[in-house]
Amino acid sequence: MCGIVGIVSNKSVVKPLIDGLKSLEYRGYDSAGVAVINDHQPINIKQVGRVELLDQEVTHNDEAMNAIIGIGHTRWATHGAPTTINAHPHSNSSNTIFVVHNGIIENFKEIKILLENEGYKFISDTDTEVIPHLIDYYLKTEKTFKQAFTRALDDLHGAYAIAALYTKTPDSIYVARLSSPLLIGIGNKENYVASDASAIINHTKQVVYLKDYEMAVLTNKSVKIHNFKRKTEIIPKTEELDFDLEKAKLGNFPNYLLKEIFDSPETVRLASAGRVRSGSNIIKLGGLENVKEQLKYIDRIVIAACGTSYYAGLVGEYLIEEIAGLPVEVQLASEFKYRSEPFSRSTALIAISQSGETADTIAAIKKVENYGVLKLGIVNAIGSTISRITDAGVYCHAGPELSVASTKAFIAQVTVLTEIALSLSNGNSPLFKPLVDELSILPEKIVSILGQSKNIEQLAKKYSKYKDFIFMGRGYAYPCALEGALKLKELTYIHAEGYAAGEMKHGPLAMIDANFPTFVIATDSTMTDKTLSNISEIKARGGPIIALVSEGNKSIKSYTDDVIYVPKTLEQTQPLVVATALHLFAYHMAMALGRNVDRPRNLAKSVTVE
Ligand code: F6R
Repeated sequence: MCGIVGIVSNKSVVKPLIDGLKSLEYRGYDSAGVAVINDHQPINIKQVGRVELLDQEVTHNDEAMNAIIGIGHTRWATHGAPTTINAHPHSNSSNTIFVVHNGIIENFKEIKILLENEGYKFISDTDTEVIPHLIDYYLKTEKTFKQAFTRALDDLHGAYAIAALYTKTPDSIYVARLSSPLLIGIGNKENYVASDASAIINHTKQVVYLKDYEMAVLTNKSVKIHNFKRKTEIIPKTEELDFDLEKAKLGNFPNYLLKEIFDSPETVRLASAGRVRSGSNIIKLGGLENVKEQLKYIDRIVIAACGTSYYAGLVGEYLIEEIAGLPVEVQLASEFKYRSEPFSRSTALIAISQSGETADTIAAIKKVENYGVLKLGIVNAIGSTISRITDAGVYCHAGPELSVASTKAFIAQVTVLTEIALSLSNGNSPLFKPLVDELSILPEKIVSILGQSKNIEQLAKKYSKYKDFIFMGRGYAYPCALEGALKLKELTYIHAEGYAAGEMKHGPLAMIDANFPTFVIATDSTMTDKTLSNISEIKARGGPIIALVSEGNKSIKSYTDDVIYVPKTLEQTQPLVVATALHLFAYHMAMALGRNVDRPRNLAKSVTVE
């Protein structure tokens, strides 16, 4: 999704601006641009495609290179095609105001018509372009740029993080947010603004997170914040960024995706550290301490999330119901927010999100705000919006996930959900001790799956010619099948579906023939025999079969074309080993097809719009 970075300094800002944009590349984008002011003269340079191209153009511009104030943007097209004209920054007609924006201005058409009636001319298809023109309009009556900016903000509906420059106040960046992340970095004789900490982490760890309806004016000496709805000054609360640059480095891996899949064993360790201890009958979840008493009265849990986080939630449903005996319902956040369903104060909402910035998941949390529902988060990105708007939560501690496809975050989310299920069981489940013991040895089991990467690569080469795939499983293997299908489709663009194995006869079996392979997850469980029957039904229709089974299952070979063995583990921890194998399979399929595995087409890392 779109990314913002802005810097005001006493030395050239161009290189750090471009570096900031490069560190936002992982979010997915199709064009990029910067606007800087040098000696009251604006320079606005935009490019379709890689930031590298923008870099070349900007660094050859001597005027731009001398600028000590600037804003930059990576755009992921929502309104209008990815073209230079639609790229940000956008400006007013006299080129005195420059704006970059993340989010969506929902009432931009109405504003555009009003401004057109006032004689304003628009050149792009974007919603963003209304902002500089609207500020320009208010500048005709307001005394200062800040006042005109605030008047414009009052008119905007939707979600936004905005950074703006005005050539007549060339020492200030004006920023504001509503439902879209924005943070201010405090430096030494320079200050920064960014939509994502990764863009400024090289310069400072001291940050102020802007809240909804807050705007700020940044110079190289000061940061002044005020709430434009309540019209009050805000005293900036500086926090220290918890972001490990080392962990985000590629090392010897060819891409972030493979690195992050190989991070999986460590991810389980990090998500369990200090929380799970073999031999102890308590799970220590510090983030839930302050709601310990409320949790005693919870009799229903609703989990809301999107994509891979939603599938982790489905695993969580099985875990919490089986281990803690509490009813759980998992909902797609994008559906949940528009549903009219009854809530009671004894319901807890768990929002799951790697980025902590997913617009639909944030909306789901906001929806229950007036019901007295306990709002919990399972979030990876520390300090993100979801971590701040929930009452309590458990961090995943998976470290930065830069590849667009979520892999290690799924592993961390499922580990945390296992811990929450154990914690809610108050040590009363017969599964408590076996699970606690298993979690401590699980990283080694995942390491052994990673050791099969070469075999899985061979398998992927054989299967990459197919155009359709079905993934199926029962029980805990069912959400894994959904995750396996999602990962395959997003990384390879091959059509893939995930199904509960028991549903095959209710429709999907009709698709099976020699050109339609099935990936069956049939790890040891009470339902393995039933899954074997489903495999036979597919075999009888000539469908190629890859089976993922537990080590020691010798009979499976006679039923299937290819087999991936994973170490034996408890049924409840199988998703952690199974998902790692599925992630590797999707990875090698994508590599066999020559895909850009870190940045699949059309996708963005953090989906901050509906
Ligand atoms: C799939 C993927 C997405 C995300 C989804 C939610 O590999 O990455 O489906 O899982 O966009 O994102 P978060 O977890 O950041 O809320």
